Amino acid sequence: MGNNFKQEVLTRRTFAIISHPDAGKTTLTEKLLLFGGAIRDAGTVKAKKTGKYATSDWMEIEKQRGISVTSSVMQFDYDGFRVNILDTPGHQDFSEDTYRTLMAVDSAVMIIDSAKGIEEQTLKLFKVCRMRGIPIFTFMNKLDRQGKSPLELLAELEEVLGIESYPMNWPIGMGKEFLGIYDRFHNRVEQFRVSEENRFIPLNEDGEIVGDHPIKTSGLYEQTLEEIMLLNEAGNEFSAERVAQGNLTPVFFGSALTNFGVQTFLESYLQFAPPPKPRQSSNGEIDPLSENFSGFVFKIQANMNPAHRDRIAFIRICSGKFERGMTVNLPRLGKQLKLSQSTSFMAEERNTVEEAVSGDIIGLYDTGTYQIGDTLTTGKEQFQYERLPQFTPELFVRVSAKNVMKQKSFYKGIQQLVQEGAIQLLKTVRMEEYLLGAVGQLQFEVFEHRMKNEYNAEVLMERLGSKIARWVEGDMVDENLSSSRSLLVKDRYDHYVFLFENDFALRWFQEKNPSVKLYNPMDQND
Ligand code: G4P
Repeated sequence: MGNNFKQEVLTRRTFAIISHPDAGKTTLTEKLLLFGGAIRDAGTVKAKKTGKYATSDWMEIEKQRGISVTSSVMQFDYDGFRVNILDTPGHQDFSEDTYRTLMAVDSAVMIIDSAKGIEEQTLKLFKVCRMRGIPIFTFMNKLDRQGKSPLELLAELEEVLGIESYPMNWPIGMGKEFLGIYDRFHNRVEQFRVSEENRFIPLNEDGEIVGDHPIKTSGLYEQTLEEIMLLNEAGNEFSAERVAQGNLTPVFFGSALTNFGVQTFLESYLQFAPPPKPRQSSNGEIDPLSENFSGFVFKIQANMNPAHRDRIAFIRICSGKFERGMTVNLPRLGKQLKLSQSTSFMAEERNTVEEAVSGDIIGLYDTGTYQIGDTLTTGKEQFQYERLPQFTPELFVRVSAKNVMKQKSFYKGIQQLVQEGAIQLLKTVRMEEYLLGAVGQLQFEVFEHRMKNEYNAEVLMERLGSKIARWVEGDMVDENLSSSRSLLVKDRYDHYVFLFENDFALRWFQEKNPSVKLYNPMDQND
């Protein structure tokens, strides 16, 4: 395939933004897309989020609630790179999909609201990135507002997340007194709210502004110089290698809303973020530059377009080149498939994709063939990529068919929706009642809505609230150990799982029953 193909792969940068709701993910995404020319107007992504996005054909429920149920993929070109941003849904629509999306990226951008510091959802997503050892780039947002001190924010990165950091730049003041950023990396000061031509002030070898400048008259400049000295003496050293290993996070300060520091961030990100890396498979590592196309399904989204009742399987390409119409192997079924209906994901519309390479995401129309985690291959070699990790559900409901006459559609609906992977199905051992587990509340509502609209099966749901789910090692357990505080259920592979009321119930159970070995699948993902 030659140099052209290699060059294309090496310019791919595929990442997800991890953040807690309201930290500024949508705002930053929009600014990045504007730089890439992928959208023309500010407000496009935002409008989609608030439900005003007229051309979107996302699910009905998404429109009703004005939130993004689906995690989409956005692509743009910048400075010779092709960037793929994978969205990670937040709020209550936080789901296994959100976690799994992180299996399909090569790096992550973590946005932190500088007034709030590290919040719960950021921490959860961070842990998944850490488990994969992918590089993480940090954007401290909302410097145009008063927030925590930058030193305090750095300390949180180390103490709460346990990752070392290297500030690429440093704020000069904040809030009403925000003057700009001291850019350690480019050895310049970037001024806030100053026109493009005059925005940058170069620094001399000692890292100081030469001659007179109004910014120097403010005590904030002096304070910044002192803090920079402290960082130079006591802070971490920059190491591109440690960034690539995910052990050091480069930190950027800025304000997405006012589009300040975003371009500087983007350019440095592109310089240090990795292109697609080799991935482990049952046949050893697969090189992204190898000629044979391969990839895996990390997400299945049903009924993207209600008029067509289609499902789309999202494929992360891991090697070779995708060409529309090509034939691939699906080793799980020992089948060959012709990929003629494919789509790419641009910010404003979905287009038919003719070609894509390692690092890219494509969507394949699916009539029920694919499962999450499926590997697609070409060439003689058939292999499977490593299985996708399991994420432990935290919220549970008991579910049954409202109308006993509709049992058939009820079972069919459950089976198909569970296959998509946003919810897990469990059965109690005694009564064989159906329970659903999810990592976010919204999944149950989506489930209820879709059962009714797509399978004509109304459901009754009884909330069981949050539980601590622990799987049992081995196939044997005394079913009499099931109680209201430690409910014994089976997952869809017939493995035993206890649902504990709380931490206390879990500890009590472990003390009483030391022979029952329990585990949390999320701890086994390493
Ligand atoms: P999310 O996708 O992470 O949930 O966050 P989003 O971008 O929607 O931003 C959440 C809120 O924070 C929005 O305000 C947004 O305007 C604001 N915001 C984002 N970046 C900055 C920043 O750099 N500085 C300041 N001051 N605010 C920022 P909102 O009032 O919830 O929405 P809107 O009505 O302004 O659109």
